[in-house]
Amino acid sequence: MLSTEHKAIITATVPILEQGGEALTRHFYASMLRDYPEVKPLFNQANQAGGTQQRALANAVLMYAKNIEKLENLGPLVGTIINKHVSLQIQPKHYPIVGASLLKAIREVLGAEVATDAVIEAWGAAYGQLADILIGAEESIYKQNEQAEGGWRGARSFKVASKTVESDEITSFVLVPADGGKVVTHKPGQYIGLTVKVDGQEQRRQYSLSAASNGVDYRISVKRENGGLVSNYLHDQVHVGDTLSLFPPAGDFVLADSDKPLVLISGGVGITPTLAMLTAALAGSRPVHFIHAARHAGVHAFREHIDALAAKHPQLKRFYCYEKANADGTQPHATGYLNPQQLAEWLPETRDVDAYFLGPKPFMKAIKSQLLELGVPATQTHYEFFGPAEALA
Ligand SMILES: Cc1cc2nc3c(=O)[nH]c(=O)nc-3n(C[C@H](O)[C@H](O)[C@H](O)COP(=O)(O)OP(=O)(O)OC[C@H]3O[C@@H](n4cnc5c(N)ncnc54)[C@H](O)[C@@H]3O)c2cc1C
Ligand code: HEM
Repeated sequence: MLSTEHKAIITATVPILEQGGEALTRHFYASMLRDYPEVKPLFNQANQAGGTQQRALANAVLMYAKNIEKLENLGPLVGTIINKHVSLQIQPKHYPIVGASLLKAIREVLGAEVATDAVIEAWGAAYGQLADILIGAEESIYKQNEQAEGGWRGARSFKVASKTVESDEITSFVLVPADGGKVVTHKPGQYIGLTVKVDGQEQRRQYSLSAASNGVDYRISVKRENGGLVSNYLHDQVHVGDTLSLFPPAGDFVLADSDKPLVLISGGVGITPTLAMLTAALAGSRPVHFIHAARHAGVHAFREHIDALAAKHPQLKRFYCYEKANADGTQPHATGYLNPQQLAEWLPETRDVDAYFLGPKPFMKAIKSQLLELGVPATQTHYEFFGPAEALA
């Protein structure tokens, strides 16, 4: 339990975190990865280089400090962290490493005048409280996954049963357990964690499950990233019959039960979780508007699949937008970037819809503001990042 005095000190540090939180977390990561190289494989180095993970942690620490008197106000932030951690198999033994590195960073960045013994003690206690919450919640998911039918704990070997080129950039892999057992069900929108060795170095990444749950196998659909370590490894070096190590499904960007019309909007490879959501929604009768943006026809994955579903399910309407028109062949419904006028035409007449969207950050920023402008309630808009969460405002 945090004392009243601890809480007062944490609250008093909010202005410091507001100003210097990112400098603190940058220092924290650099020093932790230097002092404890054993945790380096857990972290995606591209997210470190781009600063997104430092910003996500700085934001989480700030939100925690601001809400230290009322932790329930932290809302979905804690769930996102827990799911991310579970997908990467963060363990209780890792928490003291992060705790020690965080206190060290507070001391070194803020200096002895600000980071007094009392401040360090309060932050040590506050960190311990948050760590206990996360460790407890993460363990309960690990246990749940282990005990569920087809479930497991830690890494499990899967064989690549098929490899299908979906576009110039995206390839799907169907993965079946090497032990011949079942797989635990996933909610539409969830992702799996995967650990691979590339050039002798362990790397962990997450991939959304791009097909509905069937208890037998998982499908992921991977975009080849320019200069990306794992995506290029999967595309070029992993073949049918090869083995991959997977952690159980996780994720809180999931299709909630509802009868409202459903709007799924994706840009590029952001289509993957919406495919599983679409299949789940089409099992019922709610109207579904599926909107997809791609740079051009060559990189448009799953068009035939969506067209076939639309032919079979009259409640599904689909719209495609390409940055530029094709010289020939199949044309999109619109060209250029999605804009409010176009989106207004493609949304259901009612704005009382559930909207789920995913794509590159500028795309998501535009979609979020356009949905709000068109009258979709903010609480009915849902999104996820293919990386550490960022602000869309
Ligand atoms: C919840 C979730 C779901 C996801 N679902 C999917 C999915 O369904 N399909 C999918 O394709 N991806 C998905 N991703 C993204 C995926 O996890 C990987 O991030 C993606 O495949 C890129 O990984 P990589 O190893 O190929 O690239 P990385 O090696 O991580 O590099 C990414 C980019 O950063 C650049 N970079 C790397 N290091 C540096 C550096 N030091 N300085 C500057 N730039 C650098 C690289 O050139 C590259 O362009 C998801 C991510 C999350 C978090
Ligand atoms: C109280 C302690 C902790 C807090 C507040 C915290 C907070 C966060 C936050 C905010 C994210 C980003 C979530 C997202 O938006 O995707 C994250 C991701 C992550 N955390 Fe933690 N974390 C804590 C402890 C730990 C520990 C002990 C480890 C293991 C060493 C760890 C490893 C990771 C990793 C590997 C990621 C993903 C990074 C990436 O995608 O590059 N965290 N954490």
